[in-house]
Amino acid sequence: MTSIVKAPSFDVARVRADFPILRETVHGKPLVYLDNANTTQKPASVLEALTHYYEHDNANIHRATHLLSERATKAYEGAREKVRRFINARETAEVIYTRGCTDGLNLIANSFARPRLKPGDEILVSWMEHHSNIVPWQMVCEQTGATLKVVPITDDGVLRIDEFERLLSDRTKLVSIIHVSNSLGTINPIETIIAQAHARGIPVAVDGAQAAPHLAVDVQALDCEFYAFSAHKMYGPTGIGALYGKRAVLESMPPYQGGGDMIASVTFEKTTYNVLPHKFEAGTPNIAGVVGFGAAVEYLAQFDMEAISAHEHDLLVHATEALEKIAGVRVIGKAPRKAGVVSFVMDGIHPHDIGTILDREGVAIRTGQHCAQPVMDRYGVPATARASFAIYNTHDEIDVFARAVAKVHELFG
Ligand SMILES: Cc1ncc(COP(=O)(O)O)c(C=O)c1O
Repeated sequence: MTSIVKAPSFDVARVRADFPILRETVHGKPLVYLDNANTTQKPASVLEALTHYYEHDNANIHRATHLLSERATKAYEGAREKVRRFINARETAEVIYTRGCTDGLNLIANSFARPRLKPGDEILVSWMEHHSNIVPWQMVCEQTGATLKVVPITDDGVLRIDEFERLLSDRTKLVSIIHVSNSLGTINPIETIIAQAHARGIPVAVDGAQAAPHLAVDVQALDCEFYAFSAHKMYGPTGIGALYGKRAVLESMPPYQGGGDMIASVTFEKTTYNVLPHKFEAGTPNIAGVVGFGAAVEYLAQFDMEAISAHEHDLLVHATEALEKIAGVRVIGKAPRKAGVVSFVMDGIHPHDIGTILDREGVAIRTGQHCAQPVMDRYGVPATARASFAIYNTHDEIDVFARAVAKVHELFG
C-alpha cells in the first residue's frame, strides 16, 4: 500500500472532544466507532446548529413574509453557499439539495437519463458500485430498452481501466461511477475516467458518498457533469445530501418531482418551472437537515482535507498490518490507492459472529454485503466484516479493534 498524501497534522484529541457520542460506553467498554462508511458521528457544532434552528428560526422557507421565515430561508440558502464552497462548484444554482446520495443518483436517472435513452443505448458503471448506483440504472434501462454495462475489477479491487476504455462506445450515453468504494476502499482514478469519457463526448456522474468526507473534492477541476453525496457520511444529519450538476446540464433536464416551490406559475392549462436550483426541490425540504449539513461542511472545512486523508490512511495502514498478523484473516480489497476502509473475512467464521463479538468489546463495525452484492459475488464471499475510519479515530482504537478480532479467532478459530 503506498502512501498517497502528506503526514497528518491535526490534533485528534481535540477533534474527539468535538464529538459528544464518543464518550459513550458500550457493554461497559469505551465506544470504538469504526462504522463510519455507514454513517459518521456528529460534532457538537452540528447538534447545536440543529437545536438553534428549531429554538430560534423554525419556519417554512421561500414563502412567508415574517421574520422567522426570513431567518429560516437565510439559513437554508446560506448552507447552500457553504456546500458550494466545499466542493468548489461555480454557483449555488448548481447545488441541488437531495435526501442523500441515493436520491441524487435517482434524480439523474429519472430526469437526465430516462428522457434521453432509447433501445441500444448503454449506461456504464463499475463492478464495485453501491446498489444505489446500480438499481436506478437497471430501472431506467427497463423503462427505455437501454443496457447496463459493467467495468470489471481486478482481484485486488482495482478498476480495469483498459476494460473501461474498451467498453466506451458511441452507444454509451452516461458513465456513472463510484469515486471511493464503500466495500473495498478503492479510490478510483476518477480524473482519468472523466477525461476518457469526455474525449468521446460522454457525460459522467460520480457517486461521491465515500469521497466527499475523506478527500478534497473540486467539481470544477474534475469537470464531471454530476457529483452526488450524503451529509450523514460527512458528520451531518441523515436524510439530506446534495447533487452537484453543471448548470447547462441541469437547465436541459425536466424537473424530478412536481409540487410547491419548484414552480414559477401554475394554471390548469400550463405550469412553468422555477429557476435552478429550486426547479429540483419540490415541496417543503428538510430545512433543519440542510442547516445541519451546512454546519457539517463548515466543521470539515476548518481542516486541510489532505491532512484528513493522511490521518485516515495512516489508520488504514495500521489496521491492515494488524489484521494481517491474525491467523485466518483475509483482507478483501488491496488496491494501491485506498481510503480508510478495510473489509475482511475470517476462515470458517461468519462475519456476523465477528461483528457480535466486537460489539461486546465496544467496537462498532459493519458486517454484511455493504449494499454491494456484486462485489461479494466477485470475491465469492456471502458478506464481509468492515472497519471504516474517520477523523476522530486513533491508533489506540485500532489496537482495541485488532485485539477484539484476535479474540474472535481464539473463540472460533
Ligand atoms: C458509495 C456509496 N454510494 C451511495 C450510498 C448511498 O448513500 P445514502 O444511503 O446516504 O443515500 C452509500 C451509502 O453507504 C455509499 O457508500
